[in-house]
Amino acid sequence: MSAAAADARADAVPVIETRGLGKVYSPGSQAEVVALKDVDMRIHRGDFVAIMGPSGSGKSTLMNLIGCLDTPSSGSYRCDGIDVSTLDAEMLAELRRDKIGFVFQGFNLLPRMSALENVAMPLGYAQVPVQERSARAQAALAAVGLAERASHRPNELSGGQQQRVAIARALINQPPILLADEPTGALDSKTGEEILALFKRLRDDNHTVILITHDAEVAAHADRILVMRDGELHEEQGPGTRDRGPVETAAAATPGPEESTS
Ligand SMILES: Nc1ncnc2c1ncn2[C@@H]1O[C@H](COP(=O)(O)OP(=O)(O)OP(=O)(O)O)[C@@H](O)[C@H]1O
Ligand SMILES: [Mg+2]
Repeated sequence: MSAAAADARADAVPVIETRGLGKVYSPGSQAEVVALKDVDMRIHRGDFVAIMGPSGSGKSTLMNLIGCLDTPSSGSYRCDGIDVSTLDAEMLAELRRDKIGFVFQGFNLLPRMSALENVAMPLGYAQVPVQERSARAQAALAAVGLAERASHRPNELSGGQQQRVAIARALINQPPILLADEPTGALDSKTGEEILALFKRLRDDNHTVILITHDAEVAAHADRILVMRDGELHEEQGPGTRDRGPVETAAAATPGPEESTS
């Protein structure tokens, strides 16, 4: 969290707030799986949070709920103050577009399109004129250090460059929240570090970055580490928070109103 974000957090509505969030797949059947249990989570603007946990512990389930790609079986979720259960499909799609950028493992870039065209995709053909689409996509590519690669197709880019294109695409609508599932999983450690440095810059620009990872070293770059175990979410009080004494102390000294209610 940046200092500005720390100052702002006392009066700010959490950008992500879940209460008693639960997910049961195939309820009542033989195949029933309780994937998420009673998750209470508050994340603010300018937070950089890692979600860790073993395979099958519920990380992607949680990400899909936070990203409004799936609906919970119980509990509530407010995204930037909006109770998502009150929204119909069209409003949910709008919320996703305006509030959330997704970075999926494996990049999900369209192979026949240039980097610029991939980044411009989420702008929507109808709403934004062609010239503006290009200008904004070009600016987003420049922001991730890829201005010179705009006309390259994905197979003409390195893995780290492809991941940066995916991040530029996720940010093109300037959503406050960036959700990234194993964004460094396919990268060598040096390239992974570049992506993590980019996330820290986004955090400093008051974006909220939520990173799902198996890798404790990657998670240690975040300001907070949340750990999923058998569908339950726990705050880690460990190595990940070790080097952030001043920030943590400042946050602890000025607790937001939410801290007293939990
Ligand atoms: N669509 C589904 N239908 C039924 N069960 C599911 C479904 N999706 C996930 N599950 C189950 O829910 C549990 C949590 O899965 P989830 O994908 O959230 O785990 P994860 O922590 O993301 O694991 P990984 O690290 O392997 O990606 C698992 O036991 C999984 O088998
Ligand atoms: Mg997963």
